[in-house]
Amino acid sequence: MPESIRFVHKGQVRHLSGFAPTRTVLDFLREDLGRRGTKEGCNEGDCGACTIVLGSAEGGRVRYRTVNACILFLSALDGKELVTVEDLAAPDGTLHPVQQAMVDSHGSQCGFCTPGFVMSLFALYHEDRAPDRRRIDTALAGNLCRCTGYRPIVEAAVNAGCGRDGFDADQAQTLALLRSITRDRTLSPPGAGLHVPASADQLADLLLTHP
Ligand code: FES
Ligand code: FES
Repeated sequence: MPESIRFVHKGQVRHLSGFAPTRTVLDFLREDLGRRGTKEGCNEGDCGACTIVLGSAEGGRVRYRTVNACILFLSALDGKELVTVEDLAAPDGTLHPVQQAMVDSHGSQCGFCTPGFVMSLFALYHEDRAPDRRRIDTALAGNLCRCTGYRPIVEAAVNAGCGRDGFDADQAQTLALLRSITRDRTLSPPGAGLHVPASADQLADLLLTHP
């Protein structure tokens, strides 16, 4: 595992070191940063409440995949873009299309499962140009709700505009940043010249005080 990591978050490269090798991304988000939009349900990779999205530079674009933050070690963020449910809305409060579609389709359910569903829809929104019902079901298969139904959420997937070309200006910037991390890794070994003490306050400053 790398001793220090670099990842992209909200359009900037973040450096992190000094963390326990078994620290999970979920605990990092919720406990160290106080970002509690990502929920803890089962804490063993079964329910999808903790779903986040990682972006990686592949084939000339940013590919987005959902992961369960509760079983993902922090070091796995190295070289990736981190996207959490708090990152989706625009600074002026405008909802991301998948969030708006959840509202419009009445797909927003309880506070435990909904953030995970939204993140799975976000990944689908960017990854599949023409998802059919089977593809939508597959995208949502890792998100469990024991209370209500999935139909409004499937409708949200359709209404969100999943199926458009997902490469936009924001992705171009992210792609450049991800490539810069890879290039820096080639030029200097991991950890060289980097140390970000992992106190809670300093970590919060890292991710919460930038624009
Ligand atoms: Fe259930 Fe992570 S909290 S999968
Ligand atoms: Fe959220 Fe069922 S688990 S509504």
